[in-house]
Amino acid sequence: MRVGVLTGGGDCPGLNAVIRAVTKSLINHGQCEVLGIADGFEGLMLDPPAVKPLGWDEVSGILHLGGTVLGTSNSANPLRDQATLERVGRNVQALGLDVVVAIGGDGTMSLAHGLADQVGLACVGVPKTIDNDIANCERSFGFDTAVATATEALQRIESTANSHHRVMIVETMGRHAGWLALESGIAGAADIILLPEIDYDLQAIIDVCRAREQRQRYTIICIGEGAKERGHALTTGLHVAGGTQASRLGGIGHVLRERLQPQLRSDVRTTVLGHLQRGGYPTPFDRVLATQFGHHAARLVLEGRFGRMVTLQAGEITDVEISRVANTQRTVPPDHGLLTMARDIGICLGEPPARA
Ligand code: F6P
Repeated sequence: MRVGVLTGGGDCPGLNAVIRAVTKSLINHGQCEVLGIADGFEGLMLDPPAVKPLGWDEVSGILHLGGTVLGTSNSANPLRDQATLERVGRNVQALGLDVVVAIGGDGTMSLAHGLADQVGLACVGVPKTIDNDIANCERSFGFDTAVATATEALQRIESTANSHHRVMIVETMGRHAGWLALESGIAGAADIILLPEIDYDLQAIIDVCRAREQRQRYTIICIGEGAKERGHALTTGLHVAGGTQASRLGGIGHVLRERLQPQLRSDVRTTVLGHLQRGGYPTPFDRVLATQFGHHAARLVLEGRFGRMVTLQAGEITDVEISRVANTQRTVPPDHGLLTMARDIGICLGEPPARA
């Protein structure tokens, strides 16, 4: 059997561990050839396609490396027009690919689902994201590493905030899901955690900062990039690159600083963690989870169970239909235990005080 492997969408620590596990499991089985596809679906859209054979040597020594040895693309869309679709179909035929293992987020899963429909390309999905927002998957690899990086940043910020008696705002990634801000905020001892799922009340934040000005004399605010003030719009920026423009989340930490500073005596500063959260070595937890995901993906391939995505549910590695994942997001539910716990231990979630 000929199996293609690609990584699509934003990179994430643990991708190489998946590539390694898929390849080694399939090669060990004895009857598979593995082809690495360059830069996500882009590699299948080129004429000639950009692929390279993956053998034991190519995937040895990469378990711990950040990024992806195959390269990735956020913008490659094989469904964009009929000519591209036909080229992809021809390439798949010419390469003799029986199935592609697509490692990516919800966008990659929806492209895989679309290709199955349009050109009959069999796919097996492996979820990745530092945002932990893939539907029907309780934890994706990359998240643990991102939480560890953001937590360390919060701790480092705390010592300087304390010395200078400042209000420090730390903006995390996470798109429209607050998992990264919530878990790193709790682990990094933030006083205020602001999530996309709970529009914040500015006065509630001012009150906490003012009270802390009297006693602790510093405050740490952890805010997810998709958070917003009640009654205000999302903060996005226009990003222009390579002739295309896209609207990107980010910058709410600066917006909050502008709104808070006039209300407080303390100096208010913002740090945007950005791509630091995506780079570098995966944690041991992510290396193990990514290896388990890759191994399970290889099993799906060998059993001919195509159109499915590997997932983690109730602590078990299992799989779901890709169509149940494509273009949907998993956000923090309002009754999540971590939210209740955060409130109980005095973390402000930006909610107005409950009326008596
Ligand atoms: O989905 C992962 C993520 O890191 C988001 O948290 C963030 O909004 C986005 O990717 C940024 O992606 P890029 O800078 O690659 O466009």
